[in-house]
Amino acid sequence: MDISLVGSINIDLVYRVPYVVNNGETLHSTSHSVHFGGKGANQAVAASQLGANVHFIGKVGNDDFGDQALNNLKDKGVYIDSVQKEGATGQAIIQVTETGDNAIVLFPGANFLVTPKQIEEEADIISSSKALLLQLEVPLDTVEKAVEIAAQHGKIVILNPAPSQKLPDSLLKNVTFLTPNETELAQMTGIETTTEEDIRAACSLLLDKGVGTVVVTLGSKGSFYMNHEESGWVQASKVDAVDTTGAGDAFNGAFAVGLCRGNSLRSSIEFATKIAAFVVTQMGAQPLIPHSLLE
Ligand code: RIB
Repeated sequence: MDISLVGSINIDLVYRVPYVVNNGETLHSTSHSVHFGGKGANQAVAASQLGANVHFIGKVGNDDFGDQALNNLKDKGVYIDSVQKEGATGQAIIQVTETGDNAIVLFPGANFLVTPKQIEEEADIISSSKALLLQLEVPLDTVEKAVEIAAQHGKIVILNPAPSQKLPDSLLKNVTFLTPNETELAQMTGIETTTEEDIRAACSLLLDKGVGTVVVTLGSKGSFYMNHEESGWVQASKVDAVDTTGAGDAFNGAFAVGLCRGNSLRSSIEFATKIAAFVVTQMGAQPLIPHSLLE
């Protein structure tokens, strides 16, 4: 079960705050902690903990943060031979409120130095994996190159379009599973996503562009999936949220593992939902997943 992953690696500087700071305001945080993060790294670590061989293609900086982030990935069983060093490691300044919600400022650093050329050099990794997992914290032309290679070799392509941006039809037509949250779905399609009817309309638009299946994550409301054959809802479990950072990433990592195991779409989403629900009960985006949840 091999997954290739093209994505970001960050160090997360996390501040617990009573509420997200307002424009022009200075706000005391009640605690501060440093965690390993980056949507790519979070998804890789989740998938690796769940038993996948994850081959990471990305970049960290030529700095202490870069060394720490690489050691962390290695410790978590992620293959890092295709992670290069250049510039400064990406960072995320994260405010986490008392309700567990967050607001994030990103410094992309080395993540924005992952080029299509680097992807071409690692084409063998993509063509020999079962699935390719990506997000949008590396440049779009890099994502496009990786998806093009995966599509040429008939691989499963799972694109988590976060942070959201408009995506070209030439990319969407090669995406097997697109996994936006409701805000990203609205931003990508220009369709409000407040009612189920809206969500269906937005998903239809993406399916018409050639996406295989859309899986929309809606936090405590669960998730909605749709393709040309089926659609449905998967309920989220009720949990006390401590920190929602990385919940979407854990969902994507686990979803990829479910699909690579050959599980059905619905059961892969149910598995991903269970893992994401655990992650929101912990601080940081890469908590250790307990053995009881691994199956
Ligand atoms: O999805 C959460 C992640 O977004 C954080 O770990 C942060 O690094 C940003 O990339």
